[in-house]
Formats: sequence, structure tokens, C-alpha cells
Amino acid sequence: MNILVLVSGNGSNLQALIDAEKSGRCSEGGRESGGMRIAAVVSDKAGVFALQRANNAGIPAITETPDKSLPREERQRELSDRILRIAGKYNAGLIVLAGFLSILRGNIVKAYSGRIINLHPSLLPDFGGEGMYGDRVHRAVLASGKKESGCTVHLVDGGTDTGPVLLQRRVPVLPGDSAESLAARIHREEHIAIVDAVIRFPELSAL
Ligand code: GAR
Repeated sequence: MNILVLVSGNGSNLQALIDAEKSGRCSEGGRESGGMRIAAVVSDKAGVFALQRANNAGIPAITETPDKSLPREERQRELSDRILRIAGKYNAGLIVLAGFLSILRGNIVKAYSGRIINLHPSLLPDFGGEGMYGDRVHRAVLASGKKESGCTVHLVDGGTDTGPVLLQRRVPVLPGDSAESLAARIHREEHIAIVDAVIRFPELSAL
């Protein structure tokens, strides 16, 4: 199955997927999942390191930035429609949001219903929703005094961080943690979670 990976920044989770594909893990696990291959990477920000990672791996790396002249919802929908066309061009069976910070809206959510997964750096439904991304999530977790955080891979529906959860991995919040130290601990789990979710996608999404 062809995968379209959407990114916005460093792309360490994209790298985990690239490494899994290179090591043959995706095609191994893929026997039951039909075989997974990253067909293309799309970034909503120009010049980010994730694009470099895709280039280094010989994967088509495409930049599609939001049209700032449009009002918010229209802007999200218009970018989503461009991504939908790219997904069609690469015959994507699965769209993976691996650190993608734009919100997908409109046609793509319907056309790819049950076939878009998002990685989020908290144990959803806690610390999700609009404006909750990256270090903001970790700062909110620390401020809450929670003793546990983690990451979630979930199906994307029409909302923000609201679709059915496919899998979660947990980490402790340790005394003296900063947003950076907590983020680093969660990142390690994310790299496992995103690969796991892609390899086991047919099984997980059927549950
Ligand atoms: C990851 O921690 C991911 O969970 C988060 O962005 C980071 C991207 O890291 N995504 C969100 O916050 C989405 N709401 P990466 O670019 O190194 O993969």
C-alpha cells in the first residue's frame, strides 16, 4: 500500500518510518498489511528538515503551504484539497500525519475516511484540540501535575484530535521534568508507535 506522509518540521517520525521501510519491517509486517511504501512526503512549511530527510531517502518531497490570503476555514479546506489531489496522484491508500500541524478539512476527510492517521504527543483525549501541538502540549501536561503522559495514534475525523484511538504508548512524568525532557521521552515512544500503527494499520483500524 502506498503511504503519503504529511510533515511540518524536523521529521524524526518520518525518519522512523523511512528506517522501518528500509529495514524491511514494513514489507514484513506488510504481508498481512499488503506491504507499505512511502510514496511521497508533503510539508506545509518550506525548507523544513523533514523534506531533506525525504530527499535523502529518494522519496518525492513536496511543499504545499497554506494560502494566507484566505480566511481560516477556507485556507484549511483549500490546502486539504491540494493534498487530496497529491494523494490521488500517488495512489495513496493511507495518509499519515507525522508531526503535521495544519488541520485537514473537507473533501479529504470524506474521501479518506478511516484511512488518515495522526500522531499526537499526549494521551488523548487529554491535551488535544486546537492549538495543542508540540511543546505546548508538554507544558500543559507539566502544569497539570499529571504523573503520566505519552503519545496517541488515532484516525482522523472531522474534528481536531478527536477520531478513534488506534494505539497509545505511555511514559512517566518525572520530578524535575522540563517540556524538553518530557518531549524527548515521548519522542522515543512516538517513533515506535508510528511504525507500529502503520505496520498494523489493517488490524488496528478493523478493531
Ligand atoms: C511530534 O511530537 C508529534 O506528535 C507532534 O509534532 C512532533 C513532530 O516531531 N504533533 C503534533 O503536535 C500534532 N498535534 P517530528 O517532526 O520530529 O516527527
